[in-house]
Amino acid sequence: MFATDSVRGRLLNRAYWWPKYCLLVAQLTSPPDKPKVQLGAHSTSQDSVVQIGDSHVVQAAPVPLHTPPHPHHAQDGPQAGHDEGHDQGEDQGQGQGEDEDTYDFVSDSGIDSSSLLGDETDTLASSILHYRIENGRQYHAYRDGAYWGPNDERAKELLDFAHHMYLITLDQKLHLAPIDNPQNILDVGTGTGIWCIDMADQYPEATVTGTDLSPIQPEWVPPNCHFEIDDVSLEWTFPPNHFDFIHIRELFGCIPDWDSFFQQAYAHTKPGGWIEIVEHSVQATADDDTMGPDHFFHLWGTTVISLGETFGKSFTIWNESKERIERAGFVDVVEVTYKWPMNGWPEDRKLKDIGKWNQLRLHEGIEGYMIRLLTTVGGWDFARAQLFLAQMRIELKNYKTHAYLPGTVVYGRKPLQA
Ligand SMILES: C[S@@+](CC[C@H](N)C(=O)[O-])C[C@H]1O[C@@H](n2cnc3c(N)ncnc32)[C@H](O)[C@@H]1O
Repeated sequence: MFATDSVRGRLLNRAYWWPKYCLLVAQLTSPPDKPKVQLGAHSTSQDSVVQIGDSHVVQAAPVPLHTPPHPHHAQDGPQAGHDEGHDQGEDQGQGQGEDEDTYDFVSDSGIDSSSLLGDETDTLASSILHYRIENGRQYHAYRDGAYWGPNDERAKELLDFAHHMYLITLDQKLHLAPIDNPQNILDVGTGTGIWCIDMADQYPEATVTGTDLSPIQPEWVPPNCHFEIDDVSLEWTFPPNHFDFIHIRELFGCIPDWDSFFQQAYAHTKPGGWIEIVEHSVQATADDDTMGPDHFFHLWGTTVISLGETFGKSFTIWNESKERIERAGFVDVVEVTYKWPMNGWPEDRKLKDIGKWNQLRLHEGIEGYMIRLLTTVGGWDFARAQLFLAQMRIELKNYKTHAYLPGTVVYGRKPLQA
């Protein structure tokens, strides 16, 4: 059912994961004077700003999907200091004469309304398949600048890592809400679509829809799973009272108005249906005295929070979800807390396992999580940003700090009488 190179195929393939995991463990545990093991083609493992700085001129080389007739300019998004400001296709000299409307990045529609197919499914506007390169990383182009994270292969891989961590955290469950025989399921901001694909397998009678700004989902998916490119901060076009289950995971820093977002989710949930939101903090904490007031993790956390405020999309939803979904009208709301240790410091086996994965995810992922926020939103220069990231990578290796990221899974039901 799945193409061998699909996200799910990769996730299920231990031969794919295990060498990466072992390499990283070797890298993280090797003494500083030994040469570092490199993961893949990118030199993200070093802590030297000079080496890392070199890597930003190395462009990822994704296959050009479409070619614009002229360079595009971000119209509703901020510009980065190292913004190459174009997508890959424009250098190829193709696509001459294409309708300029397809490059309208402020369009609020993820579809090409000029589709002549005549059925209810429109074709993708070609602009959606473009992307922006900043600091050597590839970003979405539809609603250019709306999201802080890249959508290149490295970023996709780390989203799938996180999916694996959530499965460990929730004891291999894809959700905690007590849904029963769901017919319509929505995953908002689905990323690689890996959760949708697993849900479609688990509930073959259901239709599972994933939405995202980026067209980074695989083509080969279960027949009851499909993806739509859309901006969830705009008005939803799904029918009201439609979904038996709406799932949201890691949309921190993505939503300008959470109350309006949950009101929309409420309107489109079937009476008796469920919502679930899974989020974690960006501020590490410790239950003992191993993370003093001057610890770098405090600076990291407050920096992310304040950049989120400047960006207009907060990173603090993890401890606001319960109150906010109750305010939207959901009832029987349950909050379950979890901890993601910063590395393998805990003695508890499950927490140690999660901690090792988290160390790997953060060590490899912090550039993608932070570089646009630091440079574009915060105005930092590239070298300063890389020093900050390098400091984080150093702290991630310290097993004496018993730090973790707290998180919540919150679920609630729309009343039957609604
Ligand atoms: C941190 S990722 C989480 C992906 C997925 N939920 C998961 O847990 O694997 C956030 C995702 O939200 C998407 N996103 C951000 N803002 C969005 C918006 N306004 N509308 C739709 N998707 C959005 C991003 O493109 C990205 O794929």
